[in-house]
Amino acid sequence: SAWKGKSLHLQFNGSGTGMSNIYQDDRIAGQDSLYRERRRPQYHFSSRRGWINDPNGLVFHDGEYHLFYQHNPYEREWENMSWGHAVSKDMIHWQELPIALHPDKSGTMFSGSAVIDYDNTSGFGKPGNPAMVALYTVDSPDRQVQSLAYSLDKGRTWTKFPGNPLIDSKEKWNSKDTRDPRVLWYAPGKHWVMVLNERDGHSIYTSSNLKDWTYQSHVTGFWECPDLFELPVDGNAGNKKWVMYGASNTYMIGSFDGKTFRPEHGKYYFSAGSIYAAQTFSNIPAADGRRIQIGWGRIPQQGMPFNNMMLLPTELTLRTTKDGPRLFSCPVKEVAQLLEPAGKWKNLSASDASGKLASFSQNDQLYIKTTIRLSHATDAGLSLSGQRLVYYDLNFNMLNGMFYSPQDMTSMELTAEIYLDRSSVEVFIDGGAFSYSMERKPDVGNKEGFRYWGNNITITSLEVSKVRGIWP
Ligand code: FRU
Repeated sequence: SAWKGKSLHLQFNGSGTGMSNIYQDDRIAGQDSLYRERRRPQYHFSSRRGWINDPNGLVFHDGEYHLFYQHNPYEREWENMSWGHAVSKDMIHWQELPIALHPDKSGTMFSGSAVIDYDNTSGFGKPGNPAMVALYTVDSPDRQVQSLAYSLDKGRTWTKFPGNPLIDSKEKWNSKDTRDPRVLWYAPGKHWVMVLNERDGHSIYTSSNLKDWTYQSHVTGFWECPDLFELPVDGNAGNKKWVMYGASNTYMIGSFDGKTFRPEHGKYYFSAGSIYAAQTFSNIPAADGRRIQIGWGRIPQQGMPFNNMMLLPTELTLRTTKDGPRLFSCPVKEVAQLLEPAGKWKNLSASDASGKLASFSQNDQLYIKTTIRLSHATDAGLSLSGQRLVYYDLNFNMLNGMFYSPQDMTSMELTAEIYLDRSSVEVFIDGGAFSYSMERKPDVGNKEGFRYWGNNITITSLEVSKVRGIWP
């Protein structure tokens, strides 16, 4: 069986409970340089070593944010899928913990979600200690089935449910692509909802106990890693809408009655580039009710002991735009604690603004907020040593190659917030109406540095902060 171009390669310890755990008693050699490697993200999560992909099981419990993730702890490439685990008190400073779910005789551990079963609907909890329940896909050469594990010690150790698998829908869909269960609590109906990728779209199942699931409906046009959540439009609790989301950052807005999602229009996208398989925290009390998303950053880390990274956690909101309600994505407010303001200017020419940025080293971790008045330029932007960070083409309404027209069409101003880390770039345009992420090209010895370009453009504002690292 081939997956992401690699063949399946399982290593069993023979006991049937999991793989031999090289993380137990794991004192990593060369601790001094850990987290200080040349391309190590300094304010994003990456695993100490090995491959990572999708964020899994995002859940807030007892003051801790949990980030599980698709992980191959043994190699830099995709294989041996396990659930890695990290915790944080603020979604910014992360601590990596031992592997949560190891492959077993039934297969490898693919993506899924986690919930806290406050009402003990599953019976796995103990009085005063609700179970954390993970629902995930087990991948084997011939099928993908949905399974469950639970933890009574804040996600540190897990018990796989003896009644697994819960759902095996391969024959029904005549397809092996049945995976990535996304579970949420549907409060009005007091039942659980699972959104599952099945063949070419997202199916909805319901359950009263997280174990027995009933098929309800299907929405076509999505692929992998579903998400489904409700958000107020413009913060108005009286006007809420549901969002169905897919791995490639496309979404539909519509209504949901606990069994069927009814889209009000076709698909939109709002985030592009390296981001993939983003997931939001499950909806029973997240810290303060914000809808927070973490995306996988598909950013290759050549020559490093680790590969890929997570992107910044962002808050998702639904806001009315000139085209109707749309999703916005902005880094969470907790990121601000990392910023050390380093300069602020107004109304500069392109060359003056480039000059202000020239004092920052090409390798600094920086936050740059800049508003560009486009005037009569046909194309304009900001580049770093030849790599285009922001690139707007007015003829085609294209922003970094994607269709986009500025929110503020009357003055033709575009505001970009740019987060530069050692190996990544994330850009949020016009308050998060559109965002994208990409690899920060390794320094190729090009001394050009930062450069604004575009005929007659004005940099109406420029603000720069250094970004502190998160590792001890
Ligand atoms: C998305 C994905 C998921 C799958 C996982 C396997 O990147 O393909 O659909 O569960 O990765 O690692």
